[in-house]
Amino acid sequence: MNILVIGAGYVGLTMAVCFSELGHSVICIDKQKNKINALLKGKLTIFEKNLDKLLIKNLKSKRLEFDISMKNVVNADVVMISVGTPFDDSLNRYEQNAIYCVAKNITKFINKYTIIVIKSTVEVGTCDRVEQIIKEANPKADFDVVSIPEFLREGSAVYDFFNPDRIIVGTESQHAKDVIKKLYKPFKKKKFVFTSRCSSELIKCASNSFLAMKIHFINEMADFCEKVGGNVYDVAHGMGLDKRIGVEFLKTGPGYGGGCFPKDTKALASLGKRVGANFNLIEAVICGNENRIKSFATKTLSFVENIKNAKIAFLGLAFKSGTDDCRFSPAIDIVLHLINKGTKVCVYDPAATKNARSVLKTKVSYAKNEYEAAKDADIMVFATEWKQFRSLDWAKLSKIVNSKIIFDMRNIVDRQEALKYGFECYKTGC
Ligand code: UDX
Repeated sequence: MNILVIGAGYVGLTMAVCFSELGHSVICIDKQKNKINALLKGKLTIFEKNLDKLLIKNLKSKRLEFDISMKNVVNADVVMISVGTPFDDSLNRYEQNAIYCVAKNITKFINKYTIIVIKSTVEVGTCDRVEQIIKEANPKADFDVVSIPEFLREGSAVYDFFNPDRIIVGTESQHAKDVIKKLYKPFKKKKFVFTSRCSSELIKCASNSFLAMKIHFINEMADFCEKVGGNVYDVAHGMGLDKRIGVEFLKTGPGYGGGCFPKDTKALASLGKRVGANFNLIEAVICGNENRIKSFATKTLSFVENIKNAKIAFLGLAFKSGTDDCRFSPAIDIVLHLINKGTKVCVYDPAATKNARSVLKTKVSYAKNEYEAAKDADIMVFATEWKQFRSLDWAKLSKIVNSKIIFDMRNIVDRQEALKYGFECYKTGC
């Protein structure tokens, strides 16, 4: 099958590589020439586990190509639109012009039955609008617009592509359904959920908002545990064993972040308001998550309030481990609060320093590893759950820090081990 992917971001690039691995002929286009040139040389433009090997393999086999031209629509059976839809704070909704612009631009190249799949996260009604744009520009075009929302997680996107919980397909067209089944041929029938375009568009936003709510619930429970002496780990474990609740997304931390949860919750709440169906619950989650980030900064400072000119070793900047992405990272927001209070901060992240530097600039110092960051520090803060932070040399650290205080926002430090070397270790919810 010939597939054209438009937009080589996290979703588009992962999909392009993985669909070619399934045996399809894939062309992925992006208007950024330098991105396309790098990809043609087999150089990944995003940080994603296992994607590099598949990229090189499929480039070599010629099943995967990169280009900048919309003309590639001509040979495509399926065109997948995966351009960015960032949240526009002034409009309080997704900025979807890129999608509508692509819809307009592909129209003149549709010369046979073509399926246009909307992969970007969008407002409900977007597929209808795209269909209208294409019909108006080319009334003779033979096409179907289908919604197939993407649920890939950064850091495990390749795994998620090949192991989806479900494949949601929003279309009423039988022809489109048959083609989509071929597109996802190796996946079991029971993975497919066929529904209307409207419901499909909503499933993405609803899923992400629900997960954000789950995280916020356990975060509030962690605060409660601290007050009454419970252990949030045990509470989450005990709750999660109930199949109706499930163990996933019950890890407490400094709040959710990233390119999806913050914007999807806001988009849902704001759309609800516009149509007169308020999401009071989601609004409380959004507000609670924002407050949590501020309160974690305040808490960090409270641990060192008696130390003059305290220096903070801040470990972890990405919004979660396994990625270099700092978009809406709670860690970055917390560092910004600390800097605003005039605190000296030295940061380290195994992958995200380059991206963090564009925000934090010269307001912090940058360490090459955990030990360089911890030198003369009065507190070590762990804000992203990188695996390597779990096995630090506490004997070595105890000799180089100024004060032996740890604030473990993600509950990754072995408290017993740190205690052995005289550290006070403050955790979250336990
Ligand atoms: C999310 C969705 O999971 C994915 O289906 C969708 O396609 C894109 O948005 P992603 O943003 O990559 O994926 O990250 P995810 O792993 O879901 O984590 C989101 C945020 O929640 C992170 O800040 C993470 O640290 C936080 N989180 C997650 C918790 O604080 N606790 C948890 O138990 C799980």
